[in-house]
Amino acid sequence: MDNMTFVLFGGTGDLARRKIYPALFNLYIDHKMPESFSIIAMGRKEQSHADFQQIVAKSLQTFSRRGANDPAVMDAFLQSIRYSSLNVNNVEDYSKLRGLVESREKELNISGNRIFYLSVAPEFFETIASNIKESGLDSISGWKRLIIEKPFGRDLESARHLNEELSKVFEEEEIYRIDHYLGKPMVQNLEILESSNPILKALWSNHHIANVQITASEIVGVEERAGYYDNSGAIRDMVQNHMLQLLMMISMRLPRKSDASEVRMKKKNVMKSLRPLQMEDIAKNVIRGQYTAGRIQGKPVAGYTDEPNVPKSSNNDTLIALRLWIDNYFWSEVPFYIRTGKRMAEKSTRIVIEFKEPLKGQTTTSDPNLLVIEINPNEGIFIQLNKKDPMNTEKLEPMRINFFSNGKEQPEAYENLIFDAVRGDSTFFAHWDEVELSWEYVQPILDAFEQDLIPLSYYPAGSNGPEASDQLLEADGFKWWLDK
Ligand code: BG6
Repeated sequence: MDNMTFVLFGGTGDLARRKIYPALFNLYIDHKMPESFSIIAMGRKEQSHADFQQIVAKSLQTFSRRGANDPAVMDAFLQSIRYSSLNVNNVEDYSKLRGLVESREKELNISGNRIFYLSVAPEFFETIASNIKESGLDSISGWKRLIIEKPFGRDLESARHLNEELSKVFEEEEIYRIDHYLGKPMVQNLEILESSNPILKALWSNHHIANVQITASEIVGVEERAGYYDNSGAIRDMVQNHMLQLLMMISMRLPRKSDASEVRMKKKNVMKSLRPLQMEDIAKNVIRGQYTAGRIQGKPVAGYTDEPNVPKSSNNDTLIALRLWIDNYFWSEVPFYIRTGKRMAEKSTRIVIEFKEPLKGQTTTSDPNLLVIEINPNEGIFIQLNKKDPMNTEKLEPMRINFFSNGKEQPEAYENLIFDAVRGDSTFFAHWDEVELSWEYVQPILDAFEQDLIPLSYYPAGSNGPEASDQLLEADGFKWWLDK
């Protein structure tokens, strides 16, 4: 692995403390960092390197999955970190930063490979990219890479604009767009699950699959993020990125070889085959929900419009349920259902594949076979089959074959993704084509919401969403599986 400098914009932020430093530290413990590396973090505030290293130490103690019990290892890691105060609009601060990066490169014998990580609010993305260029931070002898957090634009037009601006500084191959769902171990497993299991491979098409259900439900509400969330809603926050990425991952045709360009091409093909939503179809296929007061784990909680900083009249969506169709040879006529919402009955990200032809109208009836992929917080797979009820020959009963992994032993999404970016593997990052096609798909829905063409369906906090979301499936003779 090449030696490198990790330049972190937003180094004092919440994401950095909770995810990025713990990920770097865990990679370090696992010997998955280059032999020589330097981490330079930026924030607005002036502070010394030593003070900042103590802040990182605290974040490791609190958030590192591996614990931070060995003071010598921890200290060695902290020694790789330097801090530089930076006003993102001030080019001189970038020159100062450049001086620090270069002096550390000399000290540690690092040959000019740099990762720039933008863990900042999206309004700063373009300014930072252009100041990186302006200050010469990007003129180096080695490679450069940009890791960028979501949201990548807030609609098709702004995403295109952002991409144009970034591409003045970075080539597409140098841009690593984070979608942390792509870093989740079970998501990274999807392709292997199909390709290395002939019994699944043989059944993986519209001949045998009746429908696919992708759910990402959360029990948390808007939390302290009303300023952002009330302008984004579940459609931008979850559907345009995470949910469509899950859809691509589960439905892409298997790549001949599993490298970034093949996988990304297959994913792009899925997006190109998505049946576009015409304005008149949106009301039939998209459910827009908002939570009202209810109970979460027995405790009463407020409705969305009573949450701090949410306008009382807000008609923002906190839940989306969506039916989509992939019009290609393998998936035609198979409905895919997506559902994501806040303040639902449980925290669960899962994909349920329902197989065709349960035994109906014979002497016995049975539930369909299911393949369930639990992504988060449980990580596992189960298959639902039928067996005879020993007490009643007329009846079949479902049985489940389970595999559950112990999540603690697995790397976290950010570890997987940062490791990939450090070694230059972009397979599990979103390519611009995927992002653009996702916005193209979502744009008519945004327009319909903007024009208030889709009424809000309300659901009590702690439920599985509004009735309209159940009816979406019932209309096709299906139901959401595994709802609590
Ligand atoms: C983020 C969204 O991208 O994903 C949040 O902005 C959401 O609103 C989160 O809560 C969910 O991620 P996870 O990994 O907890 O399912």
